Amino acid sequence: MKLTEEATTYVRQLFSGNSDGHGFDHTMRVYRNAMMIAKEEPCDRQIVALAALLHDADDHKLFETENNANARSFLSAHDVSEETTERIIAAINAVSFSKNRDKRPETIEGQIVQDADRLDAIGAIGIARTFAFGGGHGRGLEDSIQHFHEKLLLLKDMMNTGTAKRLAEKRHAFMLDFLQEWEEEN
Ligand code: ADP
Ligand code: NI
Repeated sequence: MKLTEEATTYVRQLFSGNSDGHGFDHTMRVYRNAMMIAKEEPCDRQIVALAALLHDADDHKLFETENNANARSFLSAHDVSEETTERIIAAINAVSFSKNRDKRPETIEGQIVQDADRLDAIGAIGIARTFAFGGGHGRGLEDSIQHFHEKLLLLKDMMNTGTAKRLAEKRHAFMLDFLQEWEEEN
């Protein structure tokens, strides 16, 4: 089996215990977004694919692992070289919004996966995820609306690649329409 298929099987099983498939569905959308962006950029597509598939495998909200233990155990079990492993791990660790704030990922592979993850936070899916997250944390609708202003509306201008910028424009406009409609209905 191809390594990316093995990684898909691995994350499907990894996320199966702790949510109703949300972690896995998010991962697969990020993977598809990342491969779409990767077509337009000079990059190592194998690194992009594996970093996208494994990007939330050690998310501290879901797992109590240290030093990317889940991603590393998958990679070492599949004989991925140390050099490739470190490139994948570096890309994964460059993705997080909170850990990196204003820092742009140093490698193109990290930039692509970060864009792919951020695309999944905006648009129709972003809206749905925001309210799902709010509900899951016992927050009301108005609290979730705040999250648009604190984070989601900023993401469009933080995209690294031209492809992601273009995709983000449409999703951003859709969120503005949604917020406008929200105001009118309130
Ligand atoms: P990701 O895997 O995309 O980095 P996160 O774990 O940071 O996702 O967040 C999961 C989803 O919940 C995202 O769509 C994010 O926008 C949303 N979210 C995160 N924090 C909040 C919050 N305080 N209120 C509402 N939604 C949130
Ligand atoms: Ni993610």
